[in-house]
Amino acid sequence: MRVRDATPLDVPAINGLYNALIPTTTVAWTEDLEPAQVREAWLAKQHQEDNPVLVAEVEGAVVGFASYDDFRDSTKWPGYRFTVEHTVHVATTHGGTGIGRALLEALIERAVTQGKHVMIGAIDSANTGSIRFHEHLGFAEVGRLIETGFKFGRWRDVVFMQRKVAPPNG
Ligand SMILES: CC(C)(COP(=O)(O)OP(=O)(O)OC[C@H]1O[C@@H](n2cnc3c(N)ncnc32)[C@H](O)[C@@H]1OP(=O)(O)O)[C@@H](O)C(=O)NCCC(=O)NCCS
Repeated sequence: MRVRDATPLDVPAINGLYNALIPTTTVAWTEDLEPAQVREAWLAKQHQEDNPVLVAEVEGAVVGFASYDDFRDSTKWPGYRFTVEHTVHVATTHGGTGIGRALLEALIERAVTQGKHVMIGAIDSANTGSIRFHEHLGFAEVGRLIETGFKFGRWRDVVFMQRKVAPPNG
């Protein structure tokens, strides 16, 4: 397995991983699949803004991806420029084999290199697997916002998990 930067050729695989989660899970609070052109535009914007997009490859196939972006709009509110919100998804066929860890550790390294201070994951409260995963990667729950989302006919809570990536005195 290797982790590398995504290229436009990875768009179908990235979109496939994301869209596979939409109909049956509450990982993302939308019921609409992402069109390929929207994902292409997202990748171009991420690259333009120097936000990392990483993919994990096993035997030539992309089986996971991870990325981050502003936590809140750091152009409008520059005080947020050291804080990012990340996303990480691994194919169910390859879950539990260390790919999520490899992706998130690589993403943390990028955050350190880019001088970021804090990384935040926003996770549906029912996604206990992702909450445990983030705990294993050094994240801790810092907030839980109640009934802030809606999917599959019911209100949903979001759990914010945070890890400081800057050195202790940074
Ligand atoms: C959450 C997710 C990214 C984890 O990726 P993964 O490749 O299965 O995780 P790994 O195999 O790298 O596990 C890393 C660590 O987390 C722990 N972990 C992972 N999933 C876990 C679970 N469901 N329950 C408890 N611990 C878990 C592992 O035991 C492992 O611990 P260790 O390395 O300290 O021994 C993956 O399950 C996924 O993509 N889920 C669907 C999408 C999603 O929820 N994304 C996150 C949205 S916020």
